[in-house]
Amino acid sequence: MFNLEEYLHDTQQVVERSLDFHLPPKTERPVSLHEAMRYSVFAGGKRLRPILCLAAAEAVGGSADAALLPAAAIEILHTYTLIHDDLPAMDDDKLRRGKPTCHIAFGEAAAILAGDALLTMAFQWMAECSAPKPYLPNQFSMELAEAAGNRGVIAGQAADLEAEGKDPSAGLVEFIHLHKTAALIRAAVRIGAIAGGAKEQDLNALTIYGCDIGLAFQISDDILNATSSAEVLGKASGSDAARKKMTYVSVHGIEGAEQKAKDLIDRAVDELGKLRGNIEPLEAIARYVVERKK
Ligand code: IPE
Ligand code: IPE
Ligand code: MG
Ligand code: MG
Repeated sequence: MFNLEEYLHDTQQVVERSLDFHLPPKTERPVSLHEAMRYSVFAGGKRLRPILCLAAAEAVGGSADAALLPAAAIEILHTYTLIHDDLPAMDDDKLRRGKPTCHIAFGEAAAILAGDALLTMAFQWMAECSAPKPYLPNQFSMELAEAAGNRGVIAGQAADLEAEGKDPSAGLVEFIHLHKTAALIRAAVRIGAIAGGAKEQDLNALTIYGCDIGLAFQISDDILNATSSAEVLGKASGSDAARKKMTYVSVHGIEGAEQKAKDLIDRAVDELGKLRGNIEPLEAIARYVVERKK
């Protein structure tokens, strides 16, 4: 029987090794920059996005190897978003992945620069990989740019900050979450599928899957922020309410948010039925997204 815990652990190890191999050593000058980059990347993330990327390659019948460097690139881009998200000018958080945030450990300027460097390096790594035909050789970079840029994560982050203290709006919170979080998770799944040589129909199904679990992931982040503790999460809890953030909990209540997340996961799992490769990991990860404790 498929064991998700084992799968996550083993795949995490593969991702860790790839990150360690490709990131510059912390002894490289300027040492503080490279220390800060490695500090945040190796602070202990779940590696959900790279794992999804590898699992998607296999779900379309391809090999995970072809998706490994793109997967690592997505994780360092994600890490940059966390470093900048935690800055005083944004969410002003002091704890991340169970450790002091990058700007607390290294100072604000170093944290901004470490984020900038990880963002830039993510595109370098993507540019080193070519997507298989019939995709464009630079398809990976295009996908990442769309997901991370002004129509993706950045749009969500800008809208998230603007919405602080505003009246609850179901349409606005959906816009925020689809952009700040679902866009990158969807890209992780799509890029993995493309690396695995997905047929158009399979890519379409996985695009819906990625978007739905991505939105559900941020809904469960909202629920955990409202119901769990910093000790368990490794980051602040209760901070969304304190900062008057627009969240699924503030707009729909805990039960409403839970129901929306469950509905999204059911729809995501339905889409997997259309694929021919091994869908067990993706199915189990979808369930995990709403059942996770951190
Ligand atoms: C945190 O993402 C930011 C959100 C989009 C909710 P993760 O919960 O995946 O964070 P790490 O990578 O495991 O630290
Ligand atoms: C997550 O935003 C999205 C990004 C960091 C891009 P949040 O601000 O809701 O996530 P946490 O709770 O700080 O991880
Ligand atoms: Mg934020
Ligand atoms: Mg935050």
